[in-house]
Amino acid sequence: MSTRELEGRTALVTGGSRGIGRATCLALAGAGARIAVNFAGNQQAAAETVAQVEALDAEAMMVKADVSDPDAVSDMVKAVERVLGPVDLLVTSAGVASVEHHAEMKFEHWRRMLAVNLDGTYLPVMAVKDGMLARGYGRIVCIASVAGLRARGSMITYSTSKAAVIALARSCAESFGPSIRVNCVAPGLISTDMGASVGAAVIQRLADEAFLKRIGRPEEIAECVLFLLSERSSFTTGQTFVADGGRVTLP
Ligand SMILES: NC(=O)c1ccc[n+]([C@@H]2O[C@H](COP(=O)([O-])OP(=O)(O)OC[C@H]3O[C@@H](n4cnc5c(N)ncnc54)[C@H](OP(=O)(O)O)[C@@H]3O)[C@@H](O)[C@H]2O)c1
Repeated sequence: MSTRELEGRTALVTGGSRGIGRATCLALAGAGARIAVNFAGNQQAAAETVAQVEALDAEAMMVKADVSDPDAVSDMVKAVERVLGPVDLLVTSAGVASVEHHAEMKFEHWRRMLAVNLDGTYLPVMAVKDGMLARGYGRIVCIASVAGLRARGSMITYSTSKAAVIALARSCAESFGPSIRVNCVAPGLISTDMGASVGAAVIQRLADEAFLKRIGRPEEIAECVLFLLSERSSFTTGQTFVADGGRVTLP
């Protein structure tokens, strides 16, 4: 199998500046793809991702856009197409999370999290799918979460947003087939800025609950994304690939 299995392809990674998105940019660059690194506000982190991609001899650009803003997403895709060519591969990793007790939930917060996590998946998918359909090729991976598959009473908004992402991807897989494959990766707790935000006690508890007795690394999620974008998964679409060290299988 070629290690340059994405040679000649252009990939757009939302939330590519940090965490799982950055690790995905590096994995796809290592497989030969040109990489567009999207970010919301952390330009320094995006520039660091671009530098790391370029160190792998891959072409890269950074593109600032709030994925919840339709005009910004449309401009982002146009900018990527001008510089790197049509988007063949889309990874939606941009996202926000927070722990909240039901008594503290605010409608404005609910709306914002759904805007970033759900609209922020819908808008990039819709912005690239017509070009993919016209060219007869497209691969999309949406980063969901195990929170979208099992109950999380302390993360009602986040869990709802990720369950909706899974339904969105599955429905798009049927609608866009056969030329476009759409899948999700559902990570468990991963050591990123977002992962660290749950605090040391929760990290320890989730690590203890996992069959593998640890939390995950962003590079381990990036490998799943690479697999689902590549032809090694050529008969897989509409699926959600869980990578959580075994924990989601608990009741
Ligand atoms: N870490 C975990 O334990 C875990 C587990 C399951 C699922 N996930 C999911 O995996 C994805 C990546 O998480 P992560 O842990 O890598 O998070 P992270 O380290 O906090 O990074 C978040 C990324 O999303 C970008 N972003 C946030 N809001 C955005 C917006 N409105 N528009 C565009 N970009 C935006 C950030 O850009 P800036 O750098 O510009 O701020 C950053 O690149 C998320 O969808 C998350 O829900 C994470």
